[in-house]
Amino acid sequence: MTASEGVRRYYDANTRKFLLAGSQRTIHRELWGPGVTSRSAAAHHAHALVFGELRPEDRRVLDLGCGVGTAALYLAERRPVEVLGISISPEQIPLAERYAARAPALLGSVAFREADFTSLPADVTGFDLAFAIEAFVHAASAAAFFREAARALRPGGVLVVIDDVLVSTAADSRLEDFRSGWNVSSLVSVTEAARLAGGAGLDLVRSVDLSPLQRLGRPRDRLIRLARPVLRGLRRRSPWAQALVGGDALQQSHLAGLVEYRLLRFTRRPG
Ligand SMILES: C[S@@+](CC[C@H](N)C(=O)[O-])C[C@H]1O[C@@H](n2cnc3c(N)ncnc32)[C@H](O)[C@@H]1O
Repeated sequence: MTASEGVRRYYDANTRKFLLAGSQRTIHRELWGPGVTSRSAAAHHAHALVFGELRPEDRRVLDLGCGVGTAALYLAERRPVEVLGISISPEQIPLAERYAARAPALLGSVAFREADFTSLPADVTGFDLAFAIEAFVHAASAAAFFREAARALRPGGVLVVIDDVLVSTAADSRLEDFRSGWNVSSLVSVTEAARLAGGAGLDLVRSVDLSPLQRLGRPRDRLIRLARPVLRGLRRRSPWAQALVGGDALQQSHLAGLVEYRLLRFTRRPG
């Protein structure tokens, strides 16, 4: 099985459970940014950060790893933009379309396609802004992710990546459990991301540490920690147990300072 097939199966098997466990139809962590006082606002905070990266003239937006389309709806409800969401999971696209159909005012503003963002369809081009929330780490090849994102953007276009990045290069079993539990192939440092993106014509212009906005060790997380020995035993048979072990390992990696959660903004070089 290739890395991309592994990710597809993981999301096909787990998406509905992620939606039940999370809030606001998001498949990413809550961020308790300044002024955020509710779980719903915390779930949307990553969307608000992407919204804040839009320039007044931006019209065409690409969501790389769109989940069930919640970010697309968030942006299109607030600005006259057209958003195309791409997901590798065939489970997610009809769900995204169903949720979008509940917002008839946005008809024609949002669309979703099943595709691999490391090998995008040839007609996915000319975007003003592309973003990936907790999707980049799944890329089978980080270089291919940046190459395709650069190809999809117009010159001067912006790429925003919100994801975990590697801080420590020391071998650590917590990082291994995170990688295997969440099907992670592209856990790289900011320096490495900047180098790979630079090779694709994308310049890193900003890197913001969002780690302090996370809430680690919630009661639910403590429960999963207690159940970890059992979950580790089940993870070969259960994609859900695999995801929970990965999530616990990620929390431990954050607490140990092995990773950070960052927003990276890149600009595509003109020409
Ligand atoms: C953690 S979920 C995040 C979903 C969404 N961005 C959100 O924040 O709710 C990761 C997303 O990346 C997508 N994904 C992972 N690898 C992909 C690939 N190679 N091509 C396209 N989508 C991919 C998954 O299908 C899923 O939608």
